[in-house]
Parts: sequence; structure tokens; C-alpha cells
Amino acid sequence: MKLIQSYLSTAAQSWRTQTLALRIMRLWLGVTWIYAGWNKATDAGFLTAGSPTFIGTQLSAYSTQSPVGFAFNKLIEHAVLVGGFVMVSEFAIGLATLLWVAPRLSAFAGFSMSVGLWLASSFHSSPYFLASDTAYAILWLSYFLLINGKRKGFEMSLERRGVLRVGLTGVLAVAFAGVGKFFANAVPSTTNSAASGSAKIIKLAALKVGDTANFVSKNGSPAVLFRTKKGVFAYSAICTHQGCTVSYSPAAKLLQCPCHGAQYDPLNSARVVNGPTQTPLAKIKVAVSGLWVIEA
Ligand code: FES
Repeated sequence: MKLIQSYLSTAAQSWRTQTLALRIMRLWLGVTWIYAGWNKATDAGFLTAGSPTFIGTQLSAYSTQSPVGFAFNKLIEHAVLVGGFVMVSEFAIGLATLLWVAPRLSAFAGFSMSVGLWLASSFHSSPYFLASDTAYAILWLSYFLLINGKRKGFEMSLERRGVLRVGLTGVLAVAFAGVGKFFANAVPSTTNSAASGSAKIIKLAALKVGDTANFVSKNGSPAVLFRTKKGVFAYSAICTHQGCTVSYSPAAKLLQCPCHGAQYDPLNSARVVNGPTQTPLAKIKVAVSGLWVIEA
């Protein structure tokens, strides 16, 4: 009981005594991070493989566009764990920021998460100022430097009460995630949510016979397009073992998965020729329409 009283009174005192500028930053960052966690917690598809908003599908897309895509590719096989960790971390960082628990650590965690999101999804945004991740990274960094003052490095109190406050915030973060899951909507069906109609992939003239092209399919997942003498065809680039992103090796003439070595033969319906799965890659319907190759 005493712990909860001190927990709440420290938070209340921080709101009473800090400058207006600092309180505005805390309020915005804390609320935004809790909202981000809530968004994920109430999205029933976020941790459900096959859903369009599944974290694994997002990691797949990051692995093809990020400058550190190889790292995201490694995370895909642990997608549910990664998604759960990100969701609870967002709640924990937001709550800690609002309640003034381990403030420097939570500010640094918020900064690191924003940099990670920038590398993952908005690195190529142009012009750069349209990407909010960079703005959040700078805001978290400024907030961190402001509260860190003249200290060098971190000062994380390890006295018993400090540890208990951090633990209590962790419990609250998990509880928020649980409540969010309770309010989650039903998982949307992939078929219904996929964009309808056709989508242009590449100009036919830009894809010579024997060429391949990576593209993002209408459901947001990475895919590989082939052109042979027989025509054009495409497969999902999501490995059927644990969801890493496969890529085409011209030397081996196979689609290869970097995670556990699955290999698929694109000239033979993407059948597995090696590796821990028996399931071929999913086929994606493509066609030539006028000057373009389109996803049907
Ligand atoms: S994810 Fe295991 S082989 Fe591709």
C-alpha cells in the first residue's frame, strides 16, 4: 500500500514541480506511446499469422526496404514474440514517462524505439520530414538530454523502492496489453482486406526475359516476379517454414531462405527442393496488361 502511495505521490509531485515545456513533452510522448501499444493490443490480427496486420508481415516488408533488413529478416521467425515485446514496451515506456518512473531509462528506450522504427519503415521517406519517426526520435532525444541535465550517462537507482516502481510499471504495462486484447476485434480475413482490383507492378519493357523483380504485393507482403519465355509469374517471398523473406539466387536459380536454408524452384511451381518445409511458396496472380505487368 505504501509503495502505491509513494508511486502515485512521486508522479503527482513531478507534474506539479516541472516546467511547462517538460510537462508538455512528457504528456505528448507518454500518451502517444500508450496509444501505440493500445492500437496493437486491440488489433486481433497483430499477433495472428495470416492476418494482413500481422507483425510478421510487417517485418517481412521491413526486411526488403530497411538498410538493416537482414536484422528484421532474422526476427521474422520470432514474430509473435517480437510483436508482444514491442506492444508491452510501448505501454511500459508510455506509463513510465507519465508516472515519472526511471525517466531517463524510459526516455532512452523511447528514443531507441523511434530510431528502430525509422530504420524499419520510414528510412526512405521523401521528403524526410513527412516521416514522424525522425521527429519522435529527436523529441525523445531532446527530452532525455533535458532531464539528464549535466549527468554523464545513466543514473538508474537500484535501491529497493526504485526497483519496485519499475516492476509495478511493468505489471501495469502487461495488464494494459491484456485489457487491450480483451477489446480486440475479430481477426479480419486476408481475402476481404486485400486491396481489390489490379495493381501495376513494373513496365513489361523493363523486365527482360530471364529477369526477376522484387515487389510488394497488394496485401503488403514481399513478392518476386519472374519473366521467362513462357510469360510472367510471381510468388510470395514469405518462406512457408517460419516466414522469413526469401530471395532469388541467379547462380543457383532458386529462391532461397536465409533463416534455415529452405530452397524453392521457381520454374517448378516454387516446389521445395531443400529445407525444413514441404509447402511451396504461395503463387501470386500476375498478368500482362498493355505495357504493364499487373497483379490481378
Ligand atoms: S523460415 Fe525457416 S527456412 Fe525459411
